[in-house]
Amino acid sequence: MNCEDLKKYQYAVIGDPISHSKSPQMQNAAFEFHDLGRPYGKIQVKTDELADFVAYARENMRGFNVTVPHKQSIIQFIDNFTEIGKLCNSINTVRIENGNLYGTSTDGEGLAKAVEGHFGMKAENLKITFAGAGGAAQSGVWFFVYKGAKKINICNRTLEKAQQMSDALKKAFPALETEVCLMSDFEKMQSFIADSDLFIQATSVGLKDDDPPPFDPAVLDANKNICVYDLIYKETKILKYCREKNIRCADGSNMLLGQGAAAFKFWTKLEAPENIMKQALEELK
Ligand code: ATR
Repeated sequence: MNCEDLKKYQYAVIGDPISHSKSPQMQNAAFEFHDLGRPYGKIQVKTDELADFVAYARENMRGFNVTVPHKQSIIQFIDNFTEIGKLCNSINTVRIENGNLYGTSTDGEGLAKAVEGHFGMKAENLKITFAGAGGAAQSGVWFFVYKGAKKINICNRTLEKAQQMSDALKKAFPALETEVCLMSDFEKMQSFIADSDLFIQATSVGLKDDDPPPFDPAVLDANKNICVYDLIYKETKILKYCREKNIRCADGSNMLLGQGAAAFKFWTKLEAPENIMKQALEELK
């Protein structure tokens, strides 16, 4: 952890690795819009440095974002949670007030906003199939259910992880319909997709350009009206398949914007200038 860097900022994103993060440009554009300077930095915080960072932040900072690998390990330091932060067991945004840490997750809100913007779909009564059951899937799943989604199917390489998530959802929301299957189970996935409005690709596969698709994309043909959202913010093999087959689809760029805008509001209680934040992200491409 670079202490000199730390002193420059009232806000920051912390993680390890962190050099790739686009959050400083996006957030500083929003702060500048409100004449608040450029107070947001990125700080590499290793797992064994997290407690020291939090102790510093309590006294000296106003808020921070949390990314991989700290979204769960930060929870032990949080004094108060929003309802969604508690439910999804993952914290990406922290506000500091009088030395107390208020934690929330804006990832699910960012995702839901992106889905609404691209496909005009609201969470209420939605039937969704997720591919993946890791951290990225977790915050999305819980937000959609919290906002009234009707059905959640989870397909994963490791069935146990999907089952655990499904069991926890059912316990918290007994009226929810939820099923799981292996991502290699083509027929079961087809049946899930046939009965879904939305498909969310939430595995980490596709981050590297030469990654193969995490499942056979032909399963998507089961429903010609399905909309596909890939959390990865570049053209993955799944998205390429969708474009070839005229399946409505979008990549994860607007989710980054949506979670950032929600975080900005959570800290400052000011309106987030989303067009300006979006422009700042696009300038980085
Ligand atoms: P994140 O927090 O970014 O979601 P994660 O918790 O490591 O990262 O989860 C990654 C997701 O991608 C998981 O659903 C993982 O499947 P497993 O639960 O079976 O590990 C999935 N994933 C990673 N590599 C994969 C691969 N080669 N094929 C299929 N799924 C994969």
